[in-house]
Amino acid sequence: MEIREARPEEYDSIAELTVAAYQGLAGAHLSGGYEGRLRDVESRAAGAVVLVAVEDGSIVGAVTYVPGPQSPSAELLDEGEAGVRMLAVGPAARRRGVGTALVLACIDQARREGRHRVCLHTTPWMSAARRIYEKLGFRRDPERDWVPVPGVPLLSFVFDLAP
Ligand SMILES: CC(C)(COP(=O)(O)OP(=O)(O)OC[C@H]1O[C@@H](n2cnc3c(N)ncnc32)[C@H](O)[C@@H]1OP(=O)(O)O)[C@@H](O)C(=O)NCCC(=O)NCCS
Repeated sequence: MEIREARPEEYDSIAELTVAAYQGLAGAHLSGGYEGRLRDVESRAAGAVVLVAVEDGSIVGAVTYVPGPQSPSAELLDEGEAGVRMLAVGPAARRRGVGTALVLACIDQARREGRHRVCLHTTPWMSAARRIYEKLGFRRDPERDWVPVPGVPLLSFVFDLAP
């Protein structure tokens, strides 16, 4: 499996894969216009970094690495912090470490760019994602929890990078 930056001709399949992954979750994850934002890979790639996991020439997973608070994709980031958003792996490729590898790629990029923390939000229904974050050493940061849309509470997790 290779993890690399997405190419423009791949944006449509990344959009489909990401929406399908979120659609499979319990809870109202696509409400409040979020489906449109998940589909807008072009805008994310302009202000952040869209990474893909590729296996045998097919995209099996994607994630958005947010380099800092100035990015339009930033969600409650402070100076020196990077973010991880919109992690998704296709159902057929799950439970084989693809999601973990995508999150690790974001952590590596943050470290290379000298960030001191990686921040993300998840929801109570994202059990597999939570398993990944806890396994990698992310910790809860309840002060950054928020509710963007009624019925969709976002739980904050952060990963501190050694200076
Ligand atoms: C979250 C997601 C990306 C994980 O992808 P993946 O490639 O299967 O992830 P990995 O194989 O690296 O790890 C998944 C871990 O979750 C565990 N897991 C899978 N389903 C689970 C569940 N329903 N409850 C708890 N843990 C679960 C796996 O056993 C594995 O843990 P392990 O390594 O200790 O065995 C994928 O499930 C997905 O796209 N979900 C929908 C979108 C989503 O929730 N995104 C998160 C945004 S914050």
